[in-house]
Amino acid sequence: MCGIVGYVGPRKVVPIILEGLKRLEYRGYDSAGLVYLLDGKVHKHRSEGKLANLEELMEDVDDGGSHIGLGHTRWATHGPPSEANAHPHSDCSGELVVVHNGIIENFDTLRRELTAEGHIFTSQTDTEVLAHLIEEYLDGDLVAAVQAAVRDVEGSFALGVMWSGQPDILVAARNQSPLVLGILEGRGCFLASDIPALLPYTRNIIYLEDQEMAVLRADGLEVMTLADGRPLEKEIHTIDWNAAMAEKAGYRHFMLKEIYEQPLAVLNTFRGRLEPESGVINLPEIGLDAAELRNLSRIFLVACGTSWHAALVAKYWLEKWVGIPVEVDIASEFRYRRLLLGPEVLVIPISQSGETADTLAGLRLAAKLGSKIISICNVVGSTITRESDGTIYTHAGPEIGVASTKAFTSQLTALFLLTLYLGQELETIERERRIEMARALVALPPIIEKELPRLQKDMDVLAADFSRSRDFLYLGRGENFPIALEGALKLKEISYIHAEGYAAGELKHGPIALIDREMPVLALVPQDRVYGKVISNVQEVKARHGRMILVGSEGDEALAEIADYAVYLPRINEELNPILYVIPLQLLSYQIANMRGCDVDQPRNLAKSVTVE
Ligand code: AGP
Repeated sequence: MCGIVGYVGPRKVVPIILEGLKRLEYRGYDSAGLVYLLDGKVHKHRSEGKLANLEELMEDVDDGGSHIGLGHTRWATHGPPSEANAHPHSDCSGELVVVHNGIIENFDTLRRELTAEGHIFTSQTDTEVLAHLIEEYLDGDLVAAVQAAVRDVEGSFALGVMWSGQPDILVAARNQSPLVLGILEGRGCFLASDIPALLPYTRNIIYLEDQEMAVLRADGLEVMTLADGRPLEKEIHTIDWNAAMAEKAGYRHFMLKEIYEQPLAVLNTFRGRLEPESGVINLPEIGLDAAELRNLSRIFLVACGTSWHAALVAKYWLEKWVGIPVEVDIASEFRYRRLLLGPEVLVIPISQSGETADTLAGLRLAAKLGSKIISICNVVGSTITRESDGTIYTHAGPEIGVASTKAFTSQLTALFLLTLYLGQELETIERERRIEMARALVALPPIIEKELPRLQKDMDVLAADFSRSRDFLYLGRGENFPIALEGALKLKEISYIHAEGYAAGELKHGPIALIDREMPVLALVPQDRVYGKVISNVQEVKARHGRMILVGSEGDEALAEIADYAVYLPRINEELNPILYVIPLQLLSYQIANMRGCDVDQPRNLAKSVTVE
């Protein structure tokens, strides 16, 4: 998620921008830049890498004490990290500049149209399209030009715009990406992606909502509708958070914030990649045409930890719906096995960070053996992506908590899209079925959004009862077996309770010896094709007085009769159950770790990215 800061007022703008961007560093970024107006001209300075590089650059710049400007830290989504791709981006004149957070879905079409009109592009970003589009509509009125331009835009944006032709205003506009405004009576106005950037100057905040825009001046601001400029009265909120709380948007930990960001992470990952009405899936990143796909004899998924669990789920989807044999391997095993690869085997490394040493080593080995590499990754420009033939990016935004949550559900989303895409290209999923599955995916984010608060309350009750457990057993079948593994990993890595995930059918092959009155057993038991089998396993646990937590389909009253605790989830297309069913498990591990006083965001002995063997 990018960081935006803007200011206009009696104070010097450059120090405000740099301090504000520093307070947004937690959002993750790979380059930074700023612009300000001086003597009627726009001055722009950008640098790749950390903010310190931009600060160093500015030490040698005389900004003339400018009082109006914009700054940005970029979390790359289109185009690798570089000075040229860093924001702000300019129109052809260089006198109109834009900073942006979000994803312009139709940027490719707009770029082609604008290029045909003679616009010259200097970056690979989707954002630059906005600068040229506003320029195209600019006729002396920046507000009107922004209103006209965004009508052509599909996707999400939080925008800051400045133009030397109207040197006393900044224009802000929002659609599905956060933007807040700060007011300092008589001492200027601010815009920012998030509250921490404004806290050193003001606690009086206005939240811009979707399809709203604002015009900021030194002596005040006005908010209006984006579509037609109708003035809006907005409530001014006084923020009482401290800076640390503000970085987490008021959540106690980054992990909880990222659990709650999952609806947006799933949405942003499928945004622009599927058309639910026609069932058409667009994944050009694959770079393989139908003929090449038909030549594939196998798909090999390679990953570590949580990403490996995502790979295990994908095996069920791909073999069921595409009919290509799929192998899944833990990267640290894959890299030391005798591998039978080649051009007919597509290797898919999955990694949130794109820097995991074992996964990278597996990629390099597979490439050496002649396989095509298509990675699934959350960090644009990371090593794994740079060494892949193509990358399907998950647009989860930076994941700060060591325990992976939104990246995992985004990986599942990307893998589900891959399944639909391969089914489309190889004609193994007929159109009607693709439409049904695409619609189910599109319907998922609001369902997750709605269920999160209730599930958190349910898990708080369970955590109070189980936070002193010494062991935990998670059971699942089919696509939910990897979710049982993931739930166990979440619990052990942040609460330090020993937890194991098991295929429910394996219970009688050993783990059932563990069952006694002390042993909590959590089973995933949606009313799907293996429901009856899992219920039988659950009865085996009950007969041995195990303490049962059952997570299943709403309305299934039988669960409450069997379980000590029954947790209910909405009935959705059962193919997507893994994305929904992991969420209560994430919340349970989060709350138990909290109750045990563990460092939830930075668990002992763990790193966010394991860049060593
Ligand atoms: C997940 O909660 C863990 N932090 C860990 O297992 C992680 O998934 C694993 O290290 C792989 O990381 P990657 O996705 O960045 O490659």
